[in-house]
Amino acid sequence: MGNTGMTAQRHIIGQERKYSQATGSLTGLLMDLIYASKVISREVNKAGIADVLGITGTKNIHGEEVKKLDEYANDRLFQAMDHGGHLCIMASEEQDEIIPIPDEFPKGKYVLLFDPLDGSSNIDVNVSIGTIFSIHRKKSDGENGKLEDCLQKGRDQVAAGYIIYGSSTMLVFTTGQGVNGYTLDPSVGEFILSHEDIKTPSKGIMYSINEGNANFWDEGTKKYIRYLKEKDTASGRPYSLRYIGSLVADFHRNLLQGGIFLYPADFKDPMKPKGKLRLLYEASPLAFIVEQAGGIATDGKNNILDIQPAELHQKVPLIIGCKKDVLKYQEFVANDSPI
Ligand code: AHG
Ligand code: MN
Ligand code: MN
Repeated sequence: MGNTGMTAQRHIIGQERKYSQATGSLTGLLMDLIYASKVISREVNKAGIADVLGITGTKNIHGEEVKKLDEYANDRLFQAMDHGGHLCIMASEEQDEIIPIPDEFPKGKYVLLFDPLDGSSNIDVNVSIGTIFSIHRKKSDGENGKLEDCLQKGRDQVAAGYIIYGSSTMLVFTTGQGVNGYTLDPSVGEFILSHEDIKTPSKGIMYSINEGNANFWDEGTKKYIRYLKEKDTASGRPYSLRYIGSLVADFHRNLLQGGIFLYPADFKDPMKPKGKLRLLYEASPLAFIVEQAGGIATDGKNNILDIQPAELHQKVPLIIGCKKDVLKYQEFVANDSPI
C-alpha cells in the first residue's frame, strides 16, 4: 500500500500488453469509465453546496426513489461511454430497458452493466457511496448488442470493479488476474496504484447485515448470526457488527480487513422474497472481485458467479466475503433454508 507513482492508465496498459491478442479496446473502455468516475467524484465531493442533494420525484423499476445524484451519475456514465466504439450495449440499475449505443457511433465488442450510484440512502448524509460496474464480451450476432448479451453468468465477466467515494476516492477492479486498488490524487486528477494485488483474509472479524430485518430471515440465517455473536475460537471474541448501508463501502471494508456481508432473502417480507440486491449490477461484479481476492459469494446455495440471469433486474440473496465465513453460513442454511 502507498503511493507507487504508477497511474491507473499506465498500469492497465502494461497489463493489457502482456496479451498478444489485446487490441487496447478494454483499456480504452476503462479509461472512459475512469473519466466518468472522476466527474461523479467531483460532484459527490461538493454535494452539500451544489444543487444535487434530494430526490428527483420519480421511482425506478425497483420501486425506489431516484435521487438527483443517482440520475446525475447515470447520465454521466452514459455520456462517457456511448461514443468510444468499445461497447455494443449497456444496462443500468436505474433504467428499465437495455441501453443501445446511439446510431451515429461505432459499436464495439463489450457489454457494460452498472449501478451508477450505490448507497443512495447515504447520499444526503455524507456517508460513503459508490459506482459498481461489470463488463462482458458480446456474444450475439450483429453489430448492436441485445438483451442476451446482458444476461450472462458472472463467471463470464471480462472485468468488474467499483469506485468508492469515501474519505478518498478509490477505484478497485479486476480483469481476472487479481485485484488492484487505485486512489484518486485530486490535485492531479489521476488514480494512482495504491493497493496492489489485494487479498482478503481467509476468515474475517466482522459481519455486515441489516439486523432490523431479523424477523424476516430464515432459521439458518438467524442461527448463523447468533453463532457469530458467540466467542470465536480463533480470535477469542465475537464478530463485530459493521453495517454502513452502502454495499460498496461495506464490501470494501470487509475485503481489506476481513468479514462477511449478508443480504439474505427476507422470506416474510413480500417486497423482498429474493433479497434486495441485484444480480447483474451488484452481486455478480462484487462476486468476481471477491473470488479474485480469495473470497467467495453465494445466494446461500449457489455460487453467485454460476447463476444464469433470467431478467435484467433480477434480485438475489447475497452472502459475500471471506471464504471460511461464507462456507460456514452455507452449512447453517443447508438444512434450514427454503432457498
Ligand atoms: P442502491 O443505492 O444502489 O439502490 O443500493 C442500495 C443498497 C446497498 O447499497 C445496501 O447494501 C442496501 O441497499 C441497504 O439496504 P437496507 O437499507 O435495506 O439495509
Ligand atoms: Mn446499489
Ligand atoms: Mn444504485
